Amino acid sequence: MKSIQAKGFSIPTVGLGTWELRGRDCARLTEQAIRLGYRHIDTAQMYGNEREVGEGVRASGQRSEVMVTTKVQPTSLAPHELERSVKESLAHLRLDVIDLLLIHWPNPRVPLAETLGAMAKLKHEGFVRQIGVSNFTVALLDDANRVSPEALVCNQIECHPYLDQSKVIAACRKHGMAVVAYSPIARGNAKGDELLGHIGKAYGKSAAQVCLRFLVQQNIVVIPRTSKVERLEENIALFDFELSELEMQAVRKLARRGDRIVDWSWSPNWD
Ligand SMILES: NC(=O)c1ccc[n+]([C@@H]2O[C@H](COP(=O)([O-])OP(=O)(O)OC[C@H]3O[C@@H](n4cnc5c(N)ncnc54)[C@H](OP(=O)(O)O)[C@@H]3O)[C@@H](O)[C@H]2O)c1
Repeated sequence: MKSIQAKGFSIPTVGLGTWELRGRDCARLTEQAIRLGYRHIDTAQMYGNEREVGEGVRASGQRSEVMVTTKVQPTSLAPHELERSVKESLAHLRLDVIDLLLIHWPNPRVPLAETLGAMAKLKHEGFVRQIGVSNFTVALLDDANRVSPEALVCNQIECHPYLDQSKVIAACRKHGMAVVAYSPIARGNAKGDELLGHIGKAYGKSAAQVCLRFLVQQNIVVIPRTSKVERLEENIALFDFELSELEMQAVRKLARRGDRIVDWSWSPNWD
C-alpha cells in the first residue's frame, strides 16, 4: 500500500471508510480489508462501530501494520470531555493506542486552543499517536495551525469529482497537512457516471476506480466505504494505471462548486 507523508507521519493512501457498517459485517469487512492489503481504517465515535472495527483489526493479526483513525464528536471537544471520549474510544476499540485522532466537526462554542491543547496532552501521554481535524474550512485551518501545540497531520473533508475543494486543498498544502477525502465516490453516485465509465474502459477499470484514481493521483488519501467484500479489492486496485493530463482535466470539469453530499447546515448548532 502506498502512503502519503505529512509532517513526518505516513498515511496509507487508501483506507476503509466504515460509516454505516455495523455488527458482525463491520468486523468481518475490517478484517478482510486488512487481509487484502488495507493499512488504514476510518471510524468515529459517532458511527457507533468502534467495538467492531477494533475486533476486525485484532482478528486480522496485523494490528501493528494498520493505522486506525477515530474522531471525537463536536459535543465532546471541551478538554475534560475530550479526554473522557478518547478513553472511551480506546475501551471500545480495545487497542493500545489511537493512531490518528481527529476533531470530527468544529464546534464554535469551544475554543480551538483548548481542544487542541487537550489532544496534544493525550498524545504526550501515549493515548494517541497523531492528531488532525475534519471538516475544517480555510479560516479554521489557519486558526488551528496557529494555536495547536502539536502538528496537525490532516484535514478530512468531503472530496470527489463533483465538488470543487481547491481552496481548502490549497490551504492544507500550505500548512503541510494531508488531505483525506471522505465520500470519495460521492456516496456511490460516481459508479454510474458516463465520463468516468468511458475513461475506465480504456484501462479495464470501473467508474468508481477512475473516480478514486483521480483523487490519489493528486496526492489525496481516499477512504471509500463498501459493505461488499468483492468491492474491497476493486477499491484498492488503483496503482496499476495512470490518468492522462487530458483525462484529469475532463474529470475536473465535473465539479460544481458547492455540490456537497454531506449537509453542513446543522453544524453550528452544537449545545
Ligand atoms: N469526517 C466526516 O465528517 C465524514 C463524513 C462522511 C464520511 N466519512 C468517512 O468517509 C467514508 C466514505 O464516505 P461515505 O461512506 O460517505 O461514501 P463513499 O465511500 O463515497 O461511498 C459509499 C457508497 O459507495 C458504494 N461503493 C463502494 N465501492 C464501490 C464500487 N467499487 N463500485 C460501486 N459502488 C461502490 C457503496 O455501496 P456498497 O456498500 O453496496 O458497496 C456505498 O453505497 C465513510 O464511510 C466514513 O468513514 C467521514
